Formats: sequence, C-alpha cells, structure tokens
Amino acid sequence: MALVKYDLNVPHRLLLGPGPSAVHPRVLRSMSTELIGYLDPEWLSLMDEEQELLRAVFQTKNEMTYPMSGTGGAGMETAFSNFVEPGDTVVVGCNGFFSERMCEMAKIYGANVKRIEKPWGGIFTPAEIEEVLVENKPVKILALVHAETSTGALQPLEGIADVVHRNGALFLIDCVTSLGGIPLNIDASDIDVAYSASQKCLGCPPGLSPFTAGDRAREILRKRKTRVANWYLDLTLLEKYWNKERVYHHTPSTTLHYGFREGLRIVLEEGLENRWSRHQANAEYLWDKMETLGLKLLVKRENRVPSLNTVCIPDGVDDMAVRTSLRETYNIEIAGGFGPLKGKIWRVGLMGFSSQRENVTLFSEAMREILRK
Ligand SMILES: Cc1ncc(COP(=O)(O)O)c(C=O)c1O
Repeated sequence: MALVKYDLNVPHRLLLGPGPSAVHPRVLRSMSTELIGYLDPEWLSLMDEEQELLRAVFQTKNEMTYPMSGTGGAGMETAFSNFVEPGDTVVVGCNGFFSERMCEMAKIYGANVKRIEKPWGGIFTPAEIEEVLVENKPVKILALVHAETSTGALQPLEGIADVVHRNGALFLIDCVTSLGGIPLNIDASDIDVAYSASQKCLGCPPGLSPFTAGDRAREILRKRKTRVANWYLDLTLLEKYWNKERVYHHTPSTTLHYGFREGLRIVLEEGLENRWSRHQANAEYLWDKMETLGLKLLVKRENRVPSLNTVCIPDGVDDMAVRTSLRETYNIEIAGGFGPLKGKIWRVGLMGFSSQRENVTLFSEAMREILRK
C-alpha cells in the first residue's frame, strides 16, 4: 500500500452541530502530555482527581462515578446492561431518536419494554409516568432522555423521582446533551443512574462517557441473580479498578483522560451556574436572530434545550444546499433532522466551548446571506 506522504491537515470548522463541539485549547494541550502507565501511583491520583471533578459536575456524592471508556452509547449500554436482568420491566419515555435507542438496548439485555409515547419533540409529566408505572408494576427502571438531541426538547425532571421511587423503580436519565450546559443536579433530583458524553457541553473530544449510579442502583447490582451480560462495561469488575483495589480491567486511554480532567477543571473554574447561564443566554440570542430572519423554532420556548436548537426549514428551502453552503463557504457545521424530522429542521448546537456569542453572530450572518440568495 502506498504511503500517505502528507501530514494530517483538516480544515478549520466551527462546530455548531449536535456534537462533537469545539474542544477548548487547554484540553487539546493537556492531551499532548506524555503517557504513564495505568497503575503508576501518579496515574492513580489522577483517577481520584477525575472522579472528584466529575462528582462536582454531576453534583453527586455517588461513589460509583466513573468516566466510562467509549462514547455516550457506552454510557447508555452501561446503564442497561448492569441494571436490567432478563424479564425485568423497563418503562421508556419515547419522544425522539435516543429514547428509541434506549428501548433497543433494554431489549438486548432481556427487558420487557413498555413505551410511553409522545410525538417527537413532546415531553412527559410526572402524572403520565405514574400511570404507566402503576399499570405495569413491578417496574425495574423508568428511563428518560433529559435533552433530546434529535428534537431539541428538554424533559423537566421536577417531581419525577417521587413517582418513580413511590412505585419501586429506578430513575435513569440520559444527560448526554445536558451535562455541563443545562441545570442538572443528580442528588437533588434523586436520579439513580445517569450517563453523558465528553464531546458535548463538557467541551472535550469524544471517547469518554461520564457515568454515575447511586445507592439504590448499586443495591440492585449487588442483588443480581445473573451475571452482567457485557464484560467490557460490567460495573462489578470496573469498580475494582476505580476503587482502592486497583485491579486491572482494561487499558484506559491515557490521553483522553488527561483531556477530560482538564475539561472538567474548566467547567468548574467557570462555575456550573455561570456555564448554564452562558448556554441559556447564547441560545436566546440565537432564537432572536433566527426570528429576525423569519425562521421559526420547532420547540416551545419554555421546553427548549439551549445546547441544541432546532430551527424549522422554511418551505421551498433546500436543506442540503444550505448546509453545504454553510460548510463550504463559511466553514460552519450544523446538522439536519432525522426520522420524522428529516428535511424539516436544522439542528444548531451551542455546546461547551462552541457556545459563544460571536459564533451565533457569525452563524446568523452566514444564514442571512445564504437565505437571501
Ligand atoms: C441524547 C443522546 N444520547 C446518546 C447519544 C449517543 O452518544 P454517542 O454518539 O457519543 O455514542 C447521543 C449522541 O448524540 C445523544 O445525543
């Protein structure tokens, strides 16, 4: 095979899609640090630091708080493979693409999946959830996507833990597009299991999936009758590496963890509240800008995900032509819709380091020029 004789040379892109988002330069710099071994005492201290930082970002005291190897999908699979046993009933709030993936994963691990259905973009009330939990008792898990990246709808969490726990189930959420960008407090919301991804509001490259599980969930894990049907993501094995025993399980990506540690430090330096306000303010600025261009947003203002904005494509406008022009003329990446929203919306991510006022200005001006043509 011929050697590729030129250096890697990717174009600059302003990443305003559903992720990956722009990576903070400090994160990139930390990733060029030389490697050390995964049982080196210095590395073990870095692991402790990373866990402490991650607990602060999740706002939890959960001991079982790990950056899992793999992308957001690995976090999702960790959740379903560890807490579902064959025959368990799992209720999933189905209102978009990622809740469908949750259903698939739960089924793979043997769950009897009960769907609560809403059209894509809808959200669930605690009363609607309780009705399904009562009908299907006993339910092992109630699973929801906090910020649905396929629709831009934000699922309110208030009052849900109460109905879930009153009915003896675990409360599981996907916070892939919310952690680090949208108000979320795992302990205050009494969430039992949550997972996220490094490449969205945390401003790091893809490859790690922040994961946390509380005492109720750990008790369920301890009492399993069957082995976790996934070796790589088995928390009963992984905890022996993350806890004091430090038993080798798999080789972590040293470089990704260096970057992730730095990314979490940046989140906490800015402060969670400030970060949430920044995401909200830049999203509101985008909404105003889109409205002045005559563009509508898909989701009602009060239910919008500020890190992922869904803009309706006007009749007669060619989705692909606009996105291609944004990329080729302005070096800006956004995404289209999929499933029932294919060809109907653009998805504009304002996540982490990408969530900056000047990026909104640039994107809006580019859209104004393209739509004028
Ligand atoms: C809400 C949500 N859940 C899960 C995932 C899967 O994450 P990944 O693509 O990092 O595996 C995504 C990815 O965009 C997502 O937006």
